[in-house]
Amino acid sequence: MAAKTVTIDDLRAHNTKDSFYILIHSKVYDVTKFIDEHPGGDEVILAEAGQDATEAFEDVGHSDEARALLPDMLVGDFEGSDIKLKSGASAAQASRVSGAVEQGSNLMYFVPLGLLGAYFAWRFYTTGSA
Ligand code: HEM
Repeated sequence: MAAKTVTIDDLRAHNTKDSFYILIHSKVYDVTKFIDEHPGGDEVILAEAGQDATEAFEDVGHSDEARALLPDMLVGDFEGSDIKLKSGASAAQASRVSGAVEQGSNLMYFVPLGLLGAYFAWRFYTTGSA
C-alpha cells in the first residue's frame, strides 16, 4: 500500500499540543502523545510547528532509541520530499525578490537616463536654433 502523503497544509493544521505533527527527513510524525514524554521538553518540539524539524532533530544528536520511536508515530510521507521548508523556501523567495529588485533597478536605471537624454536633446535643439 502506498504511504499516505501529507501536505504542507496538513502539517500546518496540526500545530497545537492537542494534535501535533512534526516533519523530519521528509516524513511526518504525529507526536501528540509523545510531546509530554519528550526528554528534551515540549517547547523544543512545539517550536518546530509547520516547518522542517530535521535540522533541530539532528543537531541534538538523538540516540538510536530516540529514532526507534519514530516509526510508531509515522503519519506518512511529506508531499514535497525535496522541499527544505526553511532554507529552500527562503531561497526561492530570495530569488523572486532579487528578480523583482533587478527588474525595478533596470527601470530605475533607464528612466533617469532617458530623461537625461531628452534634456540634452532639448538643449541641443534649443541652443542650436538660438
Ligand atoms: C518526534 C521527534 C523526537 C523524538 C522521538 C525525540 C526523542 C528524544 C529522546 C528519546 C531523547 C532522550 C535522549 C536520546 O535518546 O537521544 C531526546 C532528547 C532531546 N531532544 Fe528530542 N526527540 C524528538 C524531537 C526533538 C526536536 C525537534 C528537538 C528540537 C531541538 C529535540 C530536542 C531534544 C533535546 C534538546 C534533548 C536533550 C534533552 C536532555 O538531554 O536534557 N527533540 N529526544
